[in-house]
Amino acid sequence: MSEKPYIYLDHAATSWPKPQVVIEAVQHAMIHDSANPGRGSHQMAVRASRVLFDTRKQLSKLFRIKNPNDIAFAANTTAALNMAIKGYVKPGDHVISTSVEHNSVRRPLEFLKQTIGIEVTYVDTDENGVMAVDQIAAAITARTTLLIVNHSSNLLGSIMPLASIGELARSKGVKLLVDAAQSAGILELDVEGMGIDMLAFPGHKGLLGPQGTGGLYIHPNVDLVPQLHGGTGSQSEAPEQPSVRPDRYEAGTQNTPGLAGLKAGVQFVLNETVKNIHTKEWSLTQRMMEGLLAIDGVKVLGPKLGEERTGIVSLVAEGIDPSEMSYILDQHYNIAVRAGYHCTPLAHVRAGTMQTGAVRASVGCFTTEAEADALVDAVREIRKQYAF
Ligand SMILES: Cc1ncc(COP(=O)(O)O)c(C=O)c1O
Repeated sequence: MSEKPYIYLDHAATSWPKPQVVIEAVQHAMIHDSANPGRGSHQMAVRASRVLFDTRKQLSKLFRIKNPNDIAFAANTTAALNMAIKGYVKPGDHVISTSVEHNSVRRPLEFLKQTIGIEVTYVDTDENGVMAVDQIAAAITARTTLLIVNHSSNLLGSIMPLASIGELARSKGVKLLVDAAQSAGILELDVEGMGIDMLAFPGHKGLLGPQGTGGLYIHPNVDLVPQLHGGTGSQSEAPEQPSVRPDRYEAGTQNTPGLAGLKAGVQFVLNETVKNIHTKEWSLTQRMMEGLLAIDGVKVLGPKLGEERTGIVSLVAEGIDPSEMSYILDQHYNIAVRAGYHCTPLAHVRAGTMQTGAVRASVGCFTTEAEADALVDAVREIRKQYAF
């Protein structure tokens, strides 16, 4: 194990460390508020329900959602995306998605293709992962009911023009589901202003909350078939799932301590502001890219230097397998990055890295310039050793 200071550059997978206020909020909830929310009227149960509602309120402020009850909590983005896709798509529907989707979109779609007979079109981005809206427009048919867009590619860091995509979806009467795994808390999101019908988000990445948290915003005009049926603490005499939100989509006991932590995480983001977080992360990526691009044989994927991106910098280095590079970074330099295929095979095809995979370094709101420089120095040294 290396003696060097630990540098965490895997924020696209999960943010770490969490702000102290998040840790304290989880602990406070565990000690004081962890009765069962919505299942009883004693004082602690009421406080637990309040924790959940306050978390919905903070999220509503961040995403400009009118009614906090239009948010259903889920264990992660994947669960939220499954809730949306399987709850909305019907046999015979045509769904459009993109070539930079995560497997959490692609696999549910491919499952529905095989089991209930839907048609799916993955519209290609350019090789940097940037989507042209007219390409999506050209793919819409009379049977298209849903458009699913990854707001920011988890391999390339590219950002989709959501407002224009939302406008297009509205004008064609197609519902828009956004995968905000890499953008919640990092890029501005305004569900009304951007024409977003469903927004799947993680609590454990840019919102700085604990793992096991996340959710789905569902526009009041969208009714999903619930994917979970069971106890909600409401309308207990009825055999069917209640129609009232959020109960319709939240069967079973919720993660009260985790959601208390998420509330504190969202408050932290609101205080810092999304704009400042994005600006800081963007300048760190530019600094990292400048250093990496100066190294012979190193290629950075995604948007070019100076262009918009989130805090993701994926690279390939001639002659070095990405898994080996990541192993050396971890074991010799104490730098945590992710290597491999990043659950997004079509994006690798588009970026020309399907044979190799890539090393992904991703920054967060606590990453420092010195940490970004340390990665560049380490890659330079490793590359030197392999360049013969
Ligand atoms: C774009 C994208 N979608 C979905 C997911 C799945 O997120 P989760 O781990 O919260 O289920 C990820 C995870 O990295 C992602 O990057």
